[in-house]
Parts: sequence; C-alpha cells; structure tokens
Amino acid sequence: MAVYNIVETGDDVLREIAREVPKITSNIVKLLINMRDTMYANKGVGLAAPQVGVSKRIIVVDAGDGLIELINPVICEASGEETDTEGCLSVPEWMGDVSRPAKVVVKGLDRNGRELEINAAGFLARVLQHEIDHLEGILFTDKAINVRRIK
Ligand code: CO
Repeated sequence: MAVYNIVETGDDVLREIAREVPKITSNIVKLLINMRDTMYANKGVGLAAPQVGVSKRIIVVDAGDGLIELINPVICEASGEETDTEGCLSVPEWMGDVSRPAKVVVKGLDRNGRELEINAAGFLARVLQHEIDHLEGILFTDKAINVRRIK
C-alpha cells in the first residue's frame, strides 16, 4: 500500500491533457491500487491520475456504492442537467456549484482490460464527470459559480 501526495492547483500537470493508456502493465495496476489507497486515505470520492502527478487517463471513484476503476474512460452519452456543490482534493478548502448533465453513460477498461459500461445518475454521474474533466486539464472551479472558501 502506498499513499501518494496529492498535487494541488497551480501545478502544470493538472492542466495537461492526460495520455491514453496503450497497454495495462503491472505498473498501471500498481498505480490503480495506490490511487485507490490515496483516495480513501484522503476521504475522497474520486481521484484522477493527474492529481498524483501522473498524466495518464486513469480514474478511481467511490461515490458510496463501491470502488470503480476506469482506464481510458469516455463519456458516451449525457442527458439532463443538475447543479450541485463540488469540491476537489486538488483545490482544498474551496467549494462551488457546478451544473452538469444529470445522467451519463461512461465506458472504459478495468484493470483486466475488460470493457466496462457504467450507467450513472445523480452523485455518481457527477463524480465521474468531475474526474474525467481532470483528464482534460479542467478543474471544477473552471465551471463553478459561487466559488467559496470553506473552513
Ligand atoms: Co477533483
């Protein structure tokens, strides 16, 4: 088990377009495991590889219904709209209200290279979109209104 340091806003890696993972090697699996441990250690609900300084298209999410690991995730469908409050481990002590599609279908690979298709609504849909935004160099504060400091 290893817990990585979380990269915070101001670091260039958070603004890069993350690279596709061409092959799932043992190092990629190790990265997934350490990202999971890092997410849980920080009481996060999601984490994208750029947040641990790795510019690869990998996310881990646990919106309360168990761990989801996704390699090369893609949003295939999106519908509806919902606004809710978000925060981010890379933007500590700030929150804001972000409008996003309420439902999404996300495809990606698991650690065994099997294709996953996730039909998500509500909080899970929001977390998936937030993490996939990280892979495009987008932070929630780019999209949020009413950005405010929390103590
Ligand atoms: Co984030």
